Amino acid sequence: MTIQNYPSAFMHPFSHIPTLEQSGPVIVDRGEGIYIYDDRGRRYLEGNSGLWNVVLGFDNKRLIEAATQAYAKLPAYHAFFGRVAQSALDLSEKVIRLAPMKANRVLFANSGSEANDTVVKLLWLLAEQEGKPHRRILLSRRNAYHGMTIMTASLTGKDYVKSASGLPVYEVRHLTSPHHWREAKDGESETEFSGRLAWELEQTIRNTGPDHIAGFFAEPVLGAGGVIPPPEGYFQAIQPVLRKYGVPLIADEVICGFGRTGELWGSIKYGIEPDIVVASKVITSGFFPMGAIVLSEKMTERLERACRTYEELPTGFTTAAHPVGCAIALAAIGEIVEGGVLKNVQKVSPAFQKQLRAMQDHPMVGEARGVGLMGALEMVADKHSKTPFPGHLDVSERVSRQALANGLICRPLGAAVVLAPPFIITEPQIDELFSILRHTMDQVYAEVRAAAA
Ligand SMILES: Cc1ncc(COP(=O)(O)O)c(C=O)c1O
Repeated sequence: MTIQNYPSAFMHPFSHIPTLEQSGPVIVDRGEGIYIYDDRGRRYLEGNSGLWNVVLGFDNKRLIEAATQAYAKLPAYHAFFGRVAQSALDLSEKVIRLAPMKANRVLFANSGSEANDTVVKLLWLLAEQEGKPHRRILLSRRNAYHGMTIMTASLTGKDYVKSASGLPVYEVRHLTSPHHWREAKDGESETEFSGRLAWELEQTIRNTGPDHIAGFFAEPVLGAGGVIPPPEGYFQAIQPVLRKYGVPLIADEVICGFGRTGELWGSIKYGIEPDIVVASKVITSGFFPMGAIVLSEKMTERLERACRTYEELPTGFTTAAHPVGCAIALAAIGEIVEGGVLKNVQKVSPAFQKQLRAMQDHPMVGEARGVGLMGALEMVADKHSKTPFPGHLDVSERVSRQALANGLICRPLGAAVVLAPPFIITEPQIDELFSILRHTMDQVYAEVRAAAA
């Protein structure tokens, strides 16, 4: 059988080739609220907000209007050589006012990866200029996701990404993933586990040499690692260690930033006091590519002092701080903060979390975890021993394929299926989402049992 539109000239990033060979791509045609429609008119509830980003609906009129007006006024310009669009100035002011720490500068990029990558460059620039050129080691965690450039794929703690290209680069060290359910020792409480991870961090810093560490990257909630909220007391345990050795904390808020956890920032939710915050995705609700690096006052001062040697900041991207992107971001943040969307997240999250946790009784679910409007169901063959299903059964892939056939988009991430619906979702739509998901899981469970018999 020839599948229409596959293979085509298009190379599919992060896509499962055997599935494409079997069924071809899903051609996404249009969107409406929290739903998308394919080219055959089939409707899907977008349980992942696209890639965590399209939180304000696929037809948000205010954002479309902001983009239309911005295109009519100044459709493109750069921000080099001291030139800048007014919308970029306004957006920067807005972002520093809302930042989770005392911040006073924002530097823009075109994606989360570019923003994190630029942070590394800035940290290394500081090291050079502050007379500590060996201060280059970056700390991250296993299962973290920080992007796909060479450096950010190195920071990303997923083995299949790293091994595929011989990464990480040698400057990166990965610490234990803060996943209590998987990583804690028998009988170890969440607080004890957090304490052990803080001890591991301190040992790593001491063994590497505090003078060699440039920064510590952390998502407040590990997102693409399978939605892993920090264990009790985690950031409270590790922050004093970072402070003691003068290691900057970079909060990668690409997923958590602007409301996903129910607070405006994951940093607020978990009591994090970052030196640098990286935002992307939600900042434009996915309507325009953007990454933003938010600098604390202290970081700004150090960087601006360091840059005097060069007379200018030695980095930048042609389309970063794009006037249209900045206008869209202003409108998106306006919807979230003043327009009541964050309030909606806070209102509907308890219902979402309740339904998510109710899935724990399903025979395939080992752990149901999440916070705000994000959650994961980790599938196991044996709940007691937490033994995963054999890889060849592709259980999480099967769930997401079957869910698609049933009109729901959810994402397989390792052994887990992940949900992160748009912020505008209503309680009846949450019921719809979980009713499709439960039916789907029952179908897949029957299949898996038949395969095992
Ligand atoms: C926490 C986090 N950081 C960085 C990135 C990279 O962002 P982008 O895909 O825009 O480069 C992602 C993408 O999912 C992410 O989840």
